[in-house]
Amino acid sequence: MTLLVTGSAGFIGSCVMRQLVAETDETIVSIDALTYAGNPLSFGEAAHSPRHHFEHADIRDEARMRGIFEKYQPRAILHLAAESHVDRSIHGPAEFVSTNVIGTLTLLQVALDYWRGLPEPQKSAFRFQHISTDEVFGSLSPTDPAFEETTPYAPNSPYSASKAGSDHLVRAWHHTYGLPTLMTNCSNNYGPYHFPEKLIPLMILNALEGKPLPVYGDGLNVRDWLYVEDHARALRLVLERGTPGETYNVGGAAERKNIDVVHTLCAVLDELHPQGAPHNRLITYVKDRPGHDRRYAINFNKLESELGWRPQESFETGLRKTVQWYLDNPDWVASVRSGDYRKWVEKNYEGRN
Ligand code: NAD
Ligand code: DAU
Repeated sequence: MTLLVTGSAGFIGSCVMRQLVAETDETIVSIDALTYAGNPLSFGEAAHSPRHHFEHADIRDEARMRGIFEKYQPRAILHLAAESHVDRSIHGPAEFVSTNVIGTLTLLQVALDYWRGLPEPQKSAFRFQHISTDEVFGSLSPTDPAFEETTPYAPNSPYSASKAGSDHLVRAWHHTYGLPTLMTNCSNNYGPYHFPEKLIPLMILNALEGKPLPVYGDGLNVRDWLYVEDHARALRLVLERGTPGETYNVGGAAERKNIDVVHTLCAVLDELHPQGAPHNRLITYVKDRPGHDRRYAINFNKLESELGWRPQESFETGLRKTVQWYLDNPDWVASVRSGDYRKWVEKNYEGRN
């Protein structure tokens, strides 16, 4: 059996792909355009598996996507490819609309035609799984209840607006055409292989270099933190047991203020990398992100009661593992810092597809 995974060289997609290669006997076709956020070094051991096939392709390239579906005849697609960073979306929204909305539209059309042509029982078993975010629900006050699957959409950033657009397309392709879709909306992931533009890896790498730790605004914005391996397991469970047309929230049960996250990180770093202690001397308050959502919180009761999923990692143990991973993987860190992995990409993949 074959699964397609888009965004497989990114932070979450690579985790999903590594898990699938390590823990199943399926063939995994990973698709990625290798933007600045896609790093083939994140394939890890899976890079050498005969069950992993990498397709260097852009999801907006309809002909390539049709060719990939035809060639591999997948039983499902897990769609994670996206422009994912809120700050970048504020400075350059067009790429977000292009990849997140048009790219998802392209995949939906290609998948729909492919699905329509499938014989039974493959047709009934096919799934289009779309990975989305809690940011589509907007911002909560400190006393608001957590987001549920039925919370109305109110995206505030160009990133979340583009993800909301893609979510609506997925919903419509199920409702109108009957495509067997699954959708998940999850909170902030963290863990190994995370590109250092996001809060946690940026703080770890800056702290290791003795650079300032930039906290936006008053530092009191709240996020829910989900360890990436837990997220990947949730996605695999939804793929196997979720009901087509349904949406599932995925959360880490770990709401934290940003400033508390940074202080906890500094304490872990003081222990694991005492040379730079105390790291919290590096904390620097900086200008706030425009339109910065105040609080996200996620209610994942549906996933827990219907499919029996809960996060296994506590925030404190997950953070410790994450810091240790960055300390243990200076090659990955250096390649990302210097952009050297681009050379690796050119050497290994340019001109091959
Ligand atoms: P990421 O930025 O680390 O990775 C995205 C990957 O998609 C990269 O490898 C990039 O090269 C690839 N990509 C971008 N544009 C492409 C295109 N046009 N064609 C093919 N590939 C393309 O993102 P991530 O953090 O791994 O997020 C994965 C998915 O999960 C995204 O859809 C994101 O919206 C969603 N999500 C992320 C989080 C989080 O905390 N990171 C939380 C909720 C939802
Ligand atoms: O909630 C899910 C979302 O989480 C995903 O959909 C996005 O793809 C992912 O990037 C993430 O978005 P955030 O904007 O919440 O993540 P980020 O790491 O950029 O920021 C987390 C919080 O930390 C946010 O309140 C902004 C703040 N921050 C961020 C950076 C990069 C800082 O205070 N300083 C920083 O330098």
